Amino acid sequence: MALRNVERERFVADLMRRMTLAERIGQLNLLSVGSAVTGPIMSVGAEDKIRSGQAGGVFNSIGPQVVRPLQTMAVTETRLGIPLLFGYDVIHGHQTIFPLPLGLSATWDLELIERTARAAAAEATADGVNWVYSPMVDICRDPRWGRVAEGAGEDPFLGSLIARAMVRGYQGSSLRDPRAVAACVKHFALYGAAEAGRDYNTVDMSRLRMLNDYLPPYEAAVKEGVASVMSSFNEVDGLPATGNKWLLTTLLRKLWGFTGFVVTDYTAINEMIEHGVGDEARVGELALAAGTDMDMVGEVFLKHVADLVASGRLDVAQVDAACRVILEAKYDLGLFDDPFRGLSDDRVKNEIMSPEKLSLARKAATESIVLLKNANRLLPLTANKRIAFIGPLTQDNRNLIGCWSAAGDWRKTTSIWQALAQRFPGHDFLYAKGCNLIEDQELLRKLGDGQVTIDEKSPAQLLEEAVQVASQADVLVVSLGECLGLTGEASCRSSIGLFDNQVALLKALKATGKPIVLVLMNGRPLTLSWEDEHMDAILETWFGGTMAGAGIVDILFGDANPSGKLSMTFPRKLGQVPIFHNAKNTGRPFDPEQPDLEYRSRYLDVPNSPLYPFGFGLSYTSFEISAITLSSSTLYRGETLTATVEVTNLGDRRGAEVVQLYTRDMVGSVTRPVQELKGFRRIELDPGETATIEFDLTADDLRFFNGDLDFVSEPGVFRLSIGANSRDLQTVEFELLD
Ligand code: NOJ
Repeated sequence: MALRNVERERFVADLMRRMTLAERIGQLNLLSVGSAVTGPIMSVGAEDKIRSGQAGGVFNSIGPQVVRPLQTMAVTETRLGIPLLFGYDVIHGHQTIFPLPLGLSATWDLELIERTARAAAAEATADGVNWVYSPMVDICRDPRWGRVAEGAGEDPFLGSLIARAMVRGYQGSSLRDPRAVAACVKHFALYGAAEAGRDYNTVDMSRLRMLNDYLPPYEAAVKEGVASVMSSFNEVDGLPATGNKWLLTTLLRKLWGFTGFVVTDYTAINEMIEHGVGDEARVGELALAAGTDMDMVGEVFLKHVADLVASGRLDVAQVDAACRVILEAKYDLGLFDDPFRGLSDDRVKNEIMSPEKLSLARKAATESIVLLKNANRLLPLTANKRIAFIGPLTQDNRNLIGCWSAAGDWRKTTSIWQALAQRFPGHDFLYAKGCNLIEDQELLRKLGDGQVTIDEKSPAQLLEEAVQVASQADVLVVSLGECLGLTGEASCRSSIGLFDNQVALLKALKATGKPIVLVLMNGRPLTLSWEDEHMDAILETWFGGTMAGAGIVDILFGDANPSGKLSMTFPRKLGQVPIFHNAKNTGRPFDPEQPDLEYRSRYLDVPNSPLYPFGFGLSYTSFEISAITLSSSTLYRGETLTATVEVTNLGDRRGAEVVQLYTRDMVGSVTRPVQELKGFRRIELDPGETATIEFDLTADDLRFFNGDLDFVSEPGVFRLSIGANSRDLQTVEFELLD
């Protein structure tokens, strides 16, 4: 490794000696060639720029027919033949689309998540991509923000492990592997904390909260060796992240030891003008000086850096440092040896959407599903009942791939209805659409592009038909939720319940007296208080990707047993937001034993507790977790404390449980959360089977950033709780001693 780096240093230094300043600045420029995904600016004259060495990489170009000529241009027609990076938004799969990242995180299955990233990398490299803009690890506590769909939820511990799993999956053990891609952790930093859950909005938080709650997943990705970091659109400490030197240099490089390169999020440098920190030249200067290495699409570096160097406002060493890390990434990827690494028509044919990838997608879809309610064990269903499938998402393909599935083709998805036909050939299920997914005209206009098909029948006719169909059935399966455009970037909502027309359908169906299974597809926690009260069973299926319908049918009929657990809290009402499990106690905590005590931290019109807590999810079987045994009631530094429980499957079918461990630091030099996730284990058990689960804890696991921003653990009493979600826990105590 060390030898390799010496070689790399020599190689890159030699190359840079031969590069003009313009060529070095050219490496800092990322062109968009293809369709503009998230912004108005397209790179003008892209081919000329490639030929004249004014591009270090290209994004939005995929497929051998597109990538090969562009790379050929770079290696044969530029003066020094430096190959291009090819970046792409591979977020939850490339062409085989896996569930939304929020859904994937609900599997709590790190091995599975790693495999999805590995599969995505294999497909993307066949298509010529060598760099992906994932994982998105922004901690999210506000479901109004549409981008909660793209992340792993609210918890820094779970989020960090998922960040690492994804980086491992994408990058493999060597970036030179033609099936590996450079990953890009984003959006650095704190993007998930946009005020009021409105995209691109201001972020303002204390260093303590940053370090303890929001930054760990980015750091985890860095520790896993992530090749690149994307700066976020928001400000941090009053400066846009892209121009924030503390963030990009002091924290990222000096404290965390990051050695890869930093790319902007799209036109984030240009956007600093609107943020109000300077004109175009000034923001270019700020960004490069802060530690931004590559300018995505905005071309501020291309336009201004040479002049800034000439006038002495930027040191040429800063240009060189940025150029060096970009060339090093190309070296690590093996692009100087084989600029076309991975790219292959044969691989496109044989590996993209291969049966193995589809079966992984089906497993992921199945495992991501969270059973929120199952009264009277209505689920699983048996096909010999008369089942009516109702709701606009039953026969929908368009929305299943969810947001950020750039290379995904919705026509290749399996809908619930198609999966039913495959699973029960010739079987006659009842069907009614029941309502349009959305009827709000203004919203439909904003969403544009055919995600919602408005039926020829009037809403009243649709409803009437559904009630009529329902009357012929023993049980109703009603598929409702969001459309894909309501989630992801710039897709924020100020109410997060089901739309009124969908609730009207549920009310009409409820009036038939038939038992109802509500199947939800959506990309954020929803407010489901009414549904929880009135529906018999509720399945949260997110947008499950290419094999969404198959995964849902597997769960509905018990071919698979639900095991998903929420990675984000579901509030009762939107007014509780932000709501998350690792909150602080306050000086006047609400006491459920004395609910009427006044002047407590509570609402008058809704309980403090969520509807469905973090970590929650039911199964078709039931598990019993035994009392906790601690290896000792004290933990000395340097020693290990082991907490043991036995988990038994009490039911009559095989199933998986995610056993979760939380701690609470009872007294701290600064206030500490009421609980912190510190461990979990996902285990599968046969009926009647018992497994012993051991969690090891050391003083290091109990560290946090204190008032001096030192990462320490402090002696004293801790509570240790274990359970199947963050609410239903058994608790013991131990003491940390020096
Ligand atoms: C904007 C998004 O914020 C980011 O996540 C994405 O990777 C880039 N655009 C590139 O499309």
